[in-house]
Amino acid sequence: LARPIVDRYGRVHRDLRISLTDKCNLRCTYCMPAEGVPWLHKENILTTDELVRVAEVAAALGIVEVRLTGGEPLLRPDAVDVVARMSAIIGEDGPLELSMTTNGIRLPQLAEPLVEAGLTRVNVSLDTLRRDRFHDLTRRDKLPEVLAGIDAAIAAGLAPVKINAVAMRGVNDDELVDLVAFARDKGAEMRFIEQMPLDAGHTWSRAAMVTGEEILAELEQVFDLTEFGDRGTSPAERFLIDGGPTTVGVIRSVTLPFCGACDRVRLTADGQLRNCLFAREESDLLAVLRGGGTDDDIAALMHTCIAGKLPGHGIDDPGFLQPDRPMSAIGG
Ligand code: GTP
Ligand code: 5AD
Ligand code: SF4
Repeated sequence: LARPIVDRYGRVHRDLRISLTDKCNLRCTYCMPAEGVPWLHKENILTTDELVRVAEVAAALGIVEVRLTGGEPLLRPDAVDVVARMSAIIGEDGPLELSMTTNGIRLPQLAEPLVEAGLTRVNVSLDTLRRDRFHDLTRRDKLPEVLAGIDAAIAAGLAPVKINAVAMRGVNDDELVDLVAFARDKGAEMRFIEQMPLDAGHTWSRAAMVTGEEILAELEQVFDLTEFGDRGTSPAERFLIDGGPTTVGVIRSVTLPFCGACDRVRLTADGQLRNCLFAREESDLLAVLRGGGTDDDIAALMHTCIAGKLPGHGIDDPGFLQPDRPMSAIGG
């Protein structure tokens, strides 16, 4: 069973994205309603032993990269311990490459312990640099904490820090250039993301989405952008700004899907394997883990999960249905 995780289209899966919790200390309007969402059942949240066991089996199947996500992963009380234990796992290319996507609020306290535990990279979500706007958008007045978190990550050596912004029409689309300048100043990479239909309220509309083309057109008014690097399996297209060395990324999930090169499998905080952000079905790993399953059973379920993977997300298909799980409970 220790064969690589390959789907029907030949895509070899080497990247496991693990959600540590569905809880979050922000309430971004494009993600959650003000009152939050019904949280996952506490007793179903995978323990750290269970997470480590899954990652070990995954490493034996060719997973070389693990990204920890949420909700907000740093709200998990033992997040640093999870990192320490995951970073000790050896995959095909040596220790797992371990990264995290976070809102940054707890990085001032945790960046250093995370690095000591073996974290190599962080991506920090930041949609605006204006405090009032941040407050409106996230329903929390925590911009200073996020900015301090970015600085703490850089100081702790979590390079290259990437900053993720979902571009939103009439919300932050007048700040794209400012965000690039901000990131460039810090030696970080700014990345703009097309909004996907994954909000809890199912209010996404294609018309409100700022397209990658619009983002690039806006940036090109100010910066000289040249395509950079081999994209590989990465969601982001990267561009050198004014000849470099700083880069900016655009993630065109909707208008220019990168599903053909997708190498990602996802594990939700409550132990469900998903072969796609937009998967209609999940594979119940929790039941295997808690039902006395062997490592071979875990491996078999990973293979089964990926065997059912569709060629693409299908957002443009006439019958497209948004997944029931919101982004916060999938892990992004
Ligand atoms: P790097 O390895 O640093 O490039 O990270 P990443 O871009 O893969 O991960 P990150 O968590 O920073 O995600 C940035 C954006 O890309 C988020 O909006 C994610 O939801 C989106 N994203 C990540 N992986 C996928 C994917 O497999 N499919 C789609 N459609 N979007 C993805
Ligand atoms: N579409 C695209 N990206 C999203 N994110 C959250 N919701 C969406 C969405 N609907 C982003 C967050 C974070 C990353 C994990 O996903 O801003 O940077
Ligand atoms: Fe992979 Fe699904 Fe994302 Fe496409 S939408 S890249 S298949 S996770």
